[in-house]
Amino acid sequence: MKIFKDKHSLRKEILKTKGISFIPTMGGLHKGHISLIKKSKKFKFKTLVSIFVNPKQFNKRSDFRSYPRNTKIDIKKLKKLKINYLYIPTFKDIYGFKPKKKVFLDKFSKKLCGKFRKGHFEGVLNVVNRFIEIIKPKYIFLGKKDYQQLYLIKKHIEKRKIKSKIIECKTIRENNGIACSSRNSNLDKNQKKIASNIFYYLSDLKKKMKKKYILFNINKIKKDLVNLGASKIDYLENYNVDSFKKIKKPNSKFNLFFAYHIKNTRLIDNI
Ligand code: PAF
Repeated sequence: MKIFKDKHSLRKEILKTKGISFIPTMGGLHKGHISLIKKSKKFKFKTLVSIFVNPKQFNKRSDFRSYPRNTKIDIKKLKKLKINYLYIPTFKDIYGFKPKKKVFLDKFSKKLCGKFRKGHFEGVLNVVNRFIEIIKPKYIFLGKKDYQQLYLIKKHIEKRKIKSKIIECKTIRENNGIACSSRNSNLDKNQKKIASNIFYYLSDLKKKMKKKYILFNINKIKKDLVNLGASKIDYLENYNVDSFKKIKKPNSKFNLFFAYHIKNTRLIDNI
């Protein structure tokens, strides 16, 4: 595994390859990332992982500061997985140039997380656009846990006629049901139990909605989630997963999208 800290030496190296399969991360690598990497290794191109905690996508300084960082452990994990390249850029390496393509931000960026984290998706698209320009990957592997992010990156790629193809990968869960996320490491045992209970409660709700074709009483459900131990609910909404249109009548294609807090930790998921 070769490690690069600047784009010029990285570019020089990858120019020699036939193409790159790219997994962008902010570190704190977990089973979800590992499954993206394993999937990428099945494709014919070399695997490149990036670790960059992008300050521009955090709407709160405190959230940026408390974001889990574990580069030494991450490097060990990546070595074991035998990836080809690891890119750990500095802020200047990423933001010290003007990208050729402008970011396209679909209007769906204003919904769900966009409503609660001002500037978040602008920050995500900004950094992803720059990574794409530096790396020019054939494939980019992204998890469905961050479904809105995945959708918006796809829209940007379509609109700007970028040749990279997004490979959508299923959400990987802990044994207790909660979606793998770097932020889970900020939860204690009791908080993990709360997150797990919330996951099972909402999975059950989705099953009921599908079976009985009912639309839910959002206020009652939010109250139930608080009773289960959530400190605050940002949103709980159902959307068709392809069109991202709100569903009037539940059908087999909808997902429940939710974001909530347990003390200082914000968790998102969709089921
Ligand atoms: O999903 C993430 O970890 C980040 O949003 C990403 C795609 C690496 C951009 O910083």
